[in-house]
Amino acid sequence: MAEYTPSELLALVNASQVSAGDERVRAITARVVADLFRTIEEFEVTPNEFWSAMKWLTRLGQADMVGLITAGLGFDRLLDILEEEADEAKARALGTPRAIEGPLYVAGAPLSQREVRLDEGNEGKGETLVMEGRVLGLDGKPVPHAVVDVWHCNEQGRYSHFDPSQPDYNLRRRIETDAEGNYRFRSFLPPGYAIPPNSPVSELFDLLGRHGNRPAHIHFLVSGLSKRALTTQVNIPGDTFLDDDFAFATRDGLIVSLEKVERSTEYASLGVTGSFTRVRFDFVLQDSLNESETIAASRYQTAA
Ligand SMILES: [Fe+2]
Repeated sequence: MAEYTPSELLALVNASQVSAGDERVRAITARVVADLFRTIEEFEVTPNEFWSAMKWLTRLGQADMVGLITAGLGFDRLLDILEEEADEAKARALGTPRAIEGPLYVAGAPLSQREVRLDEGNEGKGETLVMEGRVLGLDGKPVPHAVVDVWHCNEQGRYSHFDPSQPDYNLRRRIETDAEGNYRFRSFLPPGYAIPPNSPVSELFDLLGRHGNRPAHIHFLVSGLSKRALTTQVNIPGDTFLDDDFAFATRDGLIVSLEKVERSTEYASLGVTGSFTRVRFDFVLQDSLNESETIAASRYQTAA
């Protein structure tokens, strides 16, 4: 007997089993398959539509762009919201707001003590930026020897490693804070980011009638002894897309203030001469509850 109605087929797919498998994976897969069966039936999805969607998914994976679609469809922000709701449910105090990692982090950037230039080889590509501050605990005490991993796009909105025209680790560095938790770096104010045109991602966004722009931002992954690693971003004020981010990742607590400085001798070691823009920002880390929370692993390392 192998004649099924759709609901009989679904029941069979989800009940089929020759060994225990993993209960959680089985339950989640069953739900996802059931939801997709229902979607196909309700919208009367044609074979052509179904197979072109599968082809699109294959191309999306081949282009290594799954992480752009997850951000654009809100999943990355959803995970942040749920983590914070879990913290609040446990009455766990929050530090600096989290913001999504995005798909463009690269581990292992060069490490410097207290200060660094991110913009070597990028002179004149934008307004000179000095960003400085401290890494603190929730108690306001500095976190000595914390590591601030920072990365941003180049003047064309592209990220090194993913854009082969840039040198390795261009605009990516790690800074170890001093005994008082201080860090500082020099770079330039980056522009916003846009999803690559003529890509599987832009195809879907065109069909959805959506844009694929993010406002100007700088990414951080901050970690320190006995502290929970923090993945966040800061946003540059004044950007058109600040309230219309395709990744839904901007947050009020992360929009920095820009301070125009005409002259200062404080940053000679960073080669700063003439006028520049200064941003002051302290990162506040939660206490860790266990060892794994302290590890500044990107989502890909964690997922692996
Ligand atoms: Fe980014």
